[in-house]
Amino acid sequence: MNHRLKLAVLISGNGSNLQAIIDAIAQGLAAEIAIVISDKEQAFGLERAKKAGIPTKIFTAANYQNRDAFDRAIQESIESYQVDLIILAGYMRILGSEFVNAFPNRILNIHPALLPKYPGLKTYEAVLAAKEQKHGTTVHIVTRDLDSGPILAQAETNIETNETIETLKAKVQKLEHQLYPAVINLFAEHRLKIQNQQIYFNDQLLVKTGLQFRNGNFING
Ligand code: GRF
Repeated sequence: MNHRLKLAVLISGNGSNLQAIIDAIAQGLAAEIAIVISDKEQAFGLERAKKAGIPTKIFTAANYQNRDAFDRAIQESIESYQVDLIILAGYMRILGSEFVNAFPNRILNIHPALLPKYPGLKTYEAVLAAKEQKHGTTVHIVTRDLDSGPILAQAETNIETNETIETLKAKVQKLEHQLYPAVINLFAEHRLKIQNQQIYFNDQLLVKTGLQFRNGNFING
């Protein structure tokens, strides 16, 4: 059997992106989730993991002396699973540099905006207030700077005139649920590779703006 890409998924909440990855694996994505880690005991994503038979761990920040100690505990846990990729899926804590440096180019995040525009929280509110015509989602590599690591792929949607936070969020999350498993699949199929700090898609250098994901296909540039 081919090597399945081994994942650790970090969550804090609902876990709909985790669910999308679980479903994609059930449908043939060549990956396995070794562990789901949450910093919130009540995260609904933990239920989703258990239902899929995936081991879970909870780390509560209040039980650690400081952020570094907390991050280190999670880092050691993840190291024990020897995963290929760490998937942040609605994980609401900023990772310290020691953690990020421990897994260079192996931590991915999904952010509900067309980065580099709208990093941080409340992106739906911000794009509507700014009367943007497009919004979307980005999968990027996690570096020490929040929401600013190299962009791997983006999916976008138009903002209609009567759009509300709820309708826009529903559209963007639907895109996220397609995009994140599709990007993981690119790694599983070795179509996305990182060598000498350069990112390659199908052995071509990836454009700075990342892949555009349209109707299930990736376009480089
Ligand atoms: C997603 O919209 C993701 O972009 C952001 O947090 C949200 C998590 O949603 N980082 P869920 O927990 O996967 O449902």
